[in-house]
This record gives sequence, C-alpha cells and structure tokens, in this order.
Amino acid sequence: MKSKKDIKKKKQEQVNVELKTQSKDPIQTRREFLNKLWKGLGVVAFIELTAVFFGYLFSGKSENENLKPKQLFDAGNINAFQKKSVTIFRSGRFYLVRLDDGGFLALSLRCTHLGCSINWEEDKKRFICPCHASAFEINGNVQNPPAPSALDYFPVIIQSGRVMVDIGTKLSRNRFSKDQVTYV
Ligand code: FES
Repeated sequence: MKSKKDIKKKKQEQVNVELKTQSKDPIQTRREFLNKLWKGLGVVAFIELTAVFFGYLFSGKSENENLKPKQLFDAGNINAFQKKSVTIFRSGRFYLVRLDDGGFLALSLRCTHLGCSINWEEDKKRFICPCHASAFEINGNVQNPPAPSALDYFPVIIQSGRVMVDIGTKLSRNRFSKDQVTYV
C-alpha cells in the first residue's frame, strides 16, 4: 500500500510534467509546425511533378497530332463529277477539277499574280484572271503571264465514295505534277 508521502510525490511529478509541457518555447513550436508544413508541401509538389512527367511520357502524342486539324469540305459523291470537268465551290474557295484520267485536283480560286478571283472558261478549257489577263490550264499551270506560278491547290481525300477537300491546307507549287492528283 502506498504511503501518503508516495502519493504526494507522485502528484508533484504529474504537476511537473504538465508544467514542462505548457512551458514549451512557442518559437520552437512554430518552427516545428513550419517544418512539418514544408515537408507536406514538398511531398505534394513531388507527387504533382511525377504525375505531370508520366502524363507527358505516356500521352502517346506525336508531333503530327499537334498539327492543325483538317478542315474537310464535302464536295459530293465521286460519280457526280465527269472526267474533264470543272466545278466551282465558292464557299470553299476552290474549283474541283476532274482530269481526263479520272484524278481529282482542287484548285484555289486566287490568281497567283495579285490574288484576284479567276474564272473558268468552258469553251476554251482554261481559267482566266479578269485583272491582268493571266490564263491557266485545267491543271492550274500558267498558260499566259503575268502570273508567276501555277494555281495553288488543296489536298483531296476520297472517303466512303465522297470527295473531301482539305480547305485548311493550301499548297503552293511552281508547276503541275501527277503527285498532286488524287485517284479513286
Ligand atoms: S491578279 Fe491575276 S493577272 Fe494580275
């Protein structure tokens, strides 16, 4: 059995412990809190950086996918266009040409001299510019200057039997060549 003296001693010890706890230096307490805060923030930042790094690594994106998306203009069914025909699409700013070998070519409406809109002359099978009389063949080659180069053109894609023109991609060229033509 504990004596009164022991009990008093025990109580005094408890009081001492409490006093010691309460009297902890407030500056030290703040420092400990800030240390814990910085450690926590460091862990969060590390996790975020790791997520960003792996997200970039496994996104599967190539440089080509970052290029501008295609603006496809649906010109119609391939059977709607006869060989050796020229059809104007004013809203798309192009002429769709079907050459005598069946290939498709989408030519820009703009003259390569100073940018006037060209007209198709069906009887003479040529494009003519009303501004300074440049003339172009059905494939866009210069027939008569001052136009310095062949008409610009847009890539043509055949999709499910339809002629699609990428009006977001205008291509310049000096002369016509077969690799500019799309075949069915
Ligand atoms: S703008 Fe066409 S010939 Fe000058």
